[in-house]
Amino acid sequence: MAYNDFNMDNQWLPFTPNRSFAKDPRIFVAADGMHFTTHDGRQVIDGISSLWCVGAGHNRQPINEAIRKQLDTLDYATAFSVSNDKAFRAAEMIAAMAPGDLNKVLFCNSGSEAADTSMKVALAYHRARGEGQRNLFIGRERGYHGVGFGGMSVGGIPANRKVYGTSLLPRVDHLRFIHDPVKHAYVQHQEPVWEEDILLELENRILPLHDPSNVAAVIVEPVAGSAGWYVPPQGYLKRLREICDKHGILLIFDEVITGFGRLGTAFGADWYGVQPDMLNFAKCVTNGVIPMGGVVCSQRIYDAMMGAHGNAPDHAIEFFHGYTYSGHPVACAAAIATLELMQKEQLFARAGQMGQVLSDAMFSAVKGLPHVIGIRSLGLACAVELAPQAGMPGKRAFDVFLDCFHRGVLVRNAGDNLVFAPPYIVEREHIETMVSVLADAIKRLPA
Ligand SMILES: Cc1ncc(COP(=O)(O)O)c(C=O)c1O
Repeated sequence: MAYNDFNMDNQWLPFTPNRSFAKDPRIFVAADGMHFTTHDGRQVIDGISSLWCVGAGHNRQPINEAIRKQLDTLDYATAFSVSNDKAFRAAEMIAAMAPGDLNKVLFCNSGSEAADTSMKVALAYHRARGEGQRNLFIGRERGYHGVGFGGMSVGGIPANRKVYGTSLLPRVDHLRFIHDPVKHAYVQHQEPVWEEDILLELENRILPLHDPSNVAAVIVEPVAGSAGWYVPPQGYLKRLREICDKHGILLIFDEVITGFGRLGTAFGADWYGVQPDMLNFAKCVTNGVIPMGGVVCSQRIYDAMMGAHGNAPDHAIEFFHGYTYSGHPVACAAAIATLELMQKEQLFARAGQMGQVLSDAMFSAVKGLPHVIGIRSLGLACAVELAPQAGMPGKRAFDVFLDCFHRGVLVRNAGDNLVFAPPYIVEREHIETMVSVLADAIKRLPA
């Protein structure tokens, strides 16, 4: 199949340089295991689990069969004031995996919707408890929480925010970023140990500025994924939890990337031993094959919301929020099959083991190459940071991405970072190919 066999005039590609794509289209027509097939019949290794989604690898029959069976049984049912059996089972499985008393699942369809849902729960929860003045959110520089107005506002990737001006939520502040490019440029499969306490600014500047009694929630990714896999300093999330507890502020972990095995544990919360009040998920929950997202809330939040209505009659709705496709039976069937498969094949543990292999291979092949100014690995993900080209940030990484693609490896370029986050079924040989293709592409960059 050649790309001029189909009309490319009508699709506007998301988060893509469309003009450059039109000159050099990259089109997949099939996928299996670790590989894609392109429209011109080439094999490409999926080095990024298709944006952190396909943990179990492509074309997994138990998931496909569950979807087919569900389509023939209950294709769809509305989610408002009725429900379906698969939604309850999927929620039960997710709650059983989530830490502590995180056991009430609000379903949605994406990570962006999960961000906005968790922020709305935070506002509604505080109001239900008589603290409606708590309406300020704290995100973090270079955080990514999707593209809804809520998630974008607490997010901190400048390019994603810069054209939206006053449409961003007004009551938001941001923690400083968690990266020290001088002392911690290289993070090799362990937490960096910082001498400085970078949460002092939260205690000493941000909270006093706004007054802690006005703050609804802090939202962070346990490891900053979309920005380019930045790992927080040792003790950071525990201390963040303590500060939030001290001031009655909710802590939201956005685990859209770290959820369901990426760090070798069910959630980042488990890896770090810190329980948030809400945990956002998406992507790997269905192996990416059907859109699904959600927020797991603590029992305390749920109880407060249920008890909030005093003498309200039974027919009163407690939380005016939800999506037409919340708990879609086909998505829930996919989630059930995905989580069963991951459990059966012990894929979380495998992600942890293969993460070490990826990290070792990357450090030995890439450290010291021209333009490389940092490498960071944790769990089954690793980022290589390149020095930005003068006046053209992101250009070097984009060129490397294209070069790798044409040599059969899909890597993710994020700013001047190149990130690998392969499916958990990855084998050592795939990692060797991915890393050597990347190293060669970096070597080919002009000086
Ligand atoms: C941490 C995080 N939150 C939210 C999102 C947004 O998810 P979606 O693209 O499904 O809306 C992403 C997407 O990469 C993400 O990494």
